Amino acid sequence: NLLGLRKAPLQGKRALVTSGPTYEPIDPVRYIANRSSGKQGHAIAAALARLGAETILVSGPTREPDPLGVTVHHIESAREMLGACEAALPVDIAVCAAAVADWRVADASDQKLKKDGSGSAPTLQLATNPDILAGLAAAGAKRPKLVIGFAAETEKLIEHAQGKLARKGCDWIIANDVSSGSGTFGGDSNLVHLITRSGAEAWPRMSKLEIADRLAQRIAETVSTTTH
Ligand code: CTP
Ligand code: CA
Repeated sequence: NLLGLRKAPLQGKRALVTSGPTYEPIDPVRYIANRSSGKQGHAIAAALARLGAETILVSGPTREPDPLGVTVHHIESAREMLGACEAALPVDIAVCAAAVADWRVADASDQKLKKDGSGSAPTLQLATNPDILAGLAAAGAKRPKLVIGFAAETEKLIEHAQGKLARKGCDWIIANDVSSGSGTFGGDSNLVHLITRSGAEAWPRMSKLEIADRLAQRIAETVSTTTH
């Protein structure tokens, strides 16, 4: 055009990103959670929005500010995250970066649990949470064209990540090496491999912001070549 500006590569596309931990209630005042910071997921949502995608971020509780130009739905539990993701469909791109709790308390109490005076401790019965990534990848007619997950592994990185790719039916996995030495859980940089059906590609150690930009760029190349 006149200004020499190129159209944003993801203009007209809708993207869904999950980020952060989930909180699974035990009773009205207590919960089970994990140490996810939400930094990587929030950075990915921001990067997709910068490339022009209409971006919806479904996030558990984090200290991250809402990214600019992104519609953010704040949820707590895995089941709330699932509901918000389903409500966001249809989308062209889904990136599941959240550290979804694998289990919730099966029968969370409506009232605060009290010590019974005998010194005995309650036993928590757990139930398995829905797998949001696998659900999106199996959404039939509503399946996003590109479904991307993360895998944080401490050993057999590629092997475990390829297993997850197959099991969950997604298109790509960002395999994150969190073994001690390379591990930066909660930190600002990541050592990742991009796993696709055709193989594994090692990325150099980068900040989470750089990983987000590179991933968004890759998504833009893929989505525009497969739909036009
Ligand atoms: N994931 C999800 N819903 C869940 C569990 C995981 O959407 N209930 C997604 C995560 O957001 C991530 C991917 O699945 O993109 C892999 O998560 P991970 O915890 O590594 O895999 P799990 O299948 O839960 O296996 P495990 O924790 O036993 O390694
Ligand atoms: Ca898990």
